[in-house]
Amino acid sequence: MWLLPPLLLLLIPGSSDLSAVIMGPGEASGPERGSLTVQCRYDPGWEPYLKYWCQGAEFRNCRILVGTTGSEQEVKEDRVSIRDNQTSRMFTVTMENLTREDADTYWCGIERIGADPNVQVKVAVGPGSSGVIMGPEEARGPERGSLTVQCRYDRGWETHVKFWCRGAEFRKCTILVGTTGSEQQVKKDRVSIRDNQKRRTFTVTMEKLRQEDADTYWCGFEKNESNPGVPVRVTVDPGSSAVITGPGEARGPEQGSLTVQCRYVPGWEKHVKYWCRGSDFSICRILVRTAGSEQEVKRNRLSIRDNQTSRVFTMTMEKLRREDADTYWCMIERVGSDHGVPVKVTVGPATTVLTTIPTTFTVPVTTEVPTSSPTVSSLHPEGRALLSSVHFLLLVFLKLPVFLSMLGAVLWVNRPQGGSEGGGPPRSENQ
Ligand SMILES: *[C@@H]1O[C@H](CO)[C@@H](O)[C@H](O)[C@H]1NC(C)=O
Ligand SMILES: *[C@@H]1O[C@H](CO)[C@@H](O)[C@H](O)[C@H]1NC(C)=O
Ligand SMILES: *[C@@H]1O[C@H](CO)[C@@H](O)[C@H](O)[C@H]1NC(C)=O
Repeated sequence: MWLLPPLLLLLIPGSSDLSAVIMGPGEASGPERGSLTVQCRYDPGWEPYLKYWCQGAEFRNCRILVGTTGSEQEVKEDRVSIRDNQTSRMFTVTMENLTREDADTYWCGIERIGADPNVQVKVAVGPGSSGVIMGPEEARGPERGSLTVQCRYDRGWETHVKFWCRGAEFRKCTILVGTTGSEQQVKKDRVSIRDNQKRRTFTVTMEKLRQEDADTYWCGFEKNESNPGVPVRVTVDPGSSAVITGPGEARGPEQGSLTVQCRYVPGWEKHVKYWCRGSDFSICRILVRTAGSEQEVKRNRLSIRDNQTSRVFTMTMEKLRREDADTYWCMIERVGSDHGVPVKVTVGPATTVLTTIPTTFTVPVTTEVPTSSPTVSSLHPEGRALLSSVHFLLLVFLKLPVFLSMLGAVLWVNRPQGGSEGGGPPRSENQ
């Protein structure tokens, strides 16, 4: 009855059985230079109490390495950290960069007045596993395409920095990209890396591959000469550029049409060719494709035709709209990654249609240009002139001689007998 109310309160949760208050894994292990994680759970009511991690064979004499402040804030001391999660009633201890001397008996404890609830955790430090790593010996991707490499690592290396490094020798390799020790993706230029610490796998992606990217690379840990890396030989498949060439860009007028021709080298005649839309080659949308024959294929406003003799395939896009402007690809289908070259398509204003009118019809420059394609009416002024000149020629060479000969016949018939009146050289005005 003399106890202060807070102390009374503190005694209640653990009053029945101390060992029931807190539960741990019993034992934990990690590799030398790696890390390990221990999670201890506790019963409801103990959330705001201080939790700690303590080293020593006997709990009574153990040495507290790190402890919480009663909040969920992580606390870190040297290589050891602790974080309480009061929602899930569990605190997590992480020991990093393990050494053999770390192998010992430890305790998860909860501080209170009187005997602290605790649970023993025996920590073993494994045979100096190098941490690394299994990787694919080889990785390949097509030029302009991408490739992905996955490297696995041992338990205990989850929170370590992983990197992707280039060069024949690991010691001298150049780090292209590295993680921060978290699962956050890191991207530099065309290369990205992401660590999946649950699966103990990190993934490297190289994009927009070039021929020069072919080399030896390494999956590695923090740049440390004694940290091994795993070599991965990267091959870039013979460039599509060696197989297929295109115009690079094409331009057509709104409402008009455009034609793109792509050439390919011998050996690809019987392959399916297609026309594909989208900035990314690997996920572009196929719009129209051949059947591997020379037969023209039409789809909506598009057509494709392969000329296997001249090794050129031709795409035509009709009734162009402004929304058609995009990156397209001339593609050749094959097993594995298809070959392709990008073609940047732009759609200009409709006025350019007028340039298709033959130059002999010089179109007067007008300030107002019709937006639709020109019709006969736009040719009228010139056309009418032509028609009237035809009429004139008809008049001169056909109608006039007929008229004159008829007139001549009439005069011949009505010729005056003798030199009567009205004769003489007649009607010179008619000539
Ligand atoms: C605590 O654990 C819960 C459930 O596992 C989780 O949703 C929450 O994010 C954790 N809180 C912190 C601060 O980690
Ligand atoms: C790990 O420990 C070694 C030796 O104690 C030290 O040189 C190294 O910097 C440590 N590495 C980390 C990541 O703490
Ligand atoms: C690299 O690892 C070795 C082996 O544990 C360690 O002795 C050394 O201090 C480490 N060096 C660096 C720079 O972390």
